[in-house]
Amino acid sequence: MNPIIQNMIERRSVRKFKPDLPAKEEIYQIIEAGLFAPTGRGLQSPRFIVISNPELIQKLSEQNRIIGGWPESVDPFYGAPVVIAVVADEEVPTHVYDGALAAGNMQNAAHALGLGSCWIHRAKQEFETPIGKSVLEQAGITEPVEGISFLILGYPEGEPAPAPVRKPNRVFYLD
Ligand SMILES: Cc1cc2nc3c(=O)[nH]c(=O)nc-3n(C[C@H](O)[C@H](O)[C@H](O)COP(=O)(O)O)c2cc1C
Repeated sequence: MNPIIQNMIERRSVRKFKPDLPAKEEIYQIIEAGLFAPTGRGLQSPRFIVISNPELIQKLSEQNRIIGGWPESVDPFYGAPVVIAVVADEEVPTHVYDGALAAGNMQNAAHALGLGSCWIHRAKQEFETPIGKSVLEQAGITEPVEGISFLILGYPEGEPAPAPVRKPNRVFYLD
């Protein structure tokens, strides 16, 4: 099989990480994969905020937990050493699709480099809270954006579970 397609098939969501920070060069490559994802009318609406400050990650995870309604023992960011927040320009009609596609590209890129990632949801709600707004402010983003995804990132600890069998009857060929 083509090695790029093989990489996509073998990628799994990772929720257990070594504490080590991924190398900067690896993060740059993952970001490149996001920057070069297709976007509606080529308008490049997604923006990427790379967060490796442990206190800030902890605050964002805590807010995510509150939005999810989970008990204090839950860490929705699974102790990941890096979080890439994907936000996208609200004024672009395709911004949600653009941001999701960029996040998917980055997940496949992370796997290709031996890193693990997982999409963590509730970014839309979180960027509407004071902590989300302060992250945008710290990044210098002043235009209206919507939170699309938090991609947690790090070196995987152990092996993720194998992929579940694909549901049948989801593909239709009309020759
Ligand atoms: C839109 C979306 C939202 C997701 N939200 C979460 C989440 O909040 N927490 C989490 O642990 N995983 C989340 N995931 C990861 C999925 O659970 C995971 O992709 C799915 O179980 C399939 O597993 P795989 O990625 O290993 O193929 C999300 C994935 C997507 C695409």
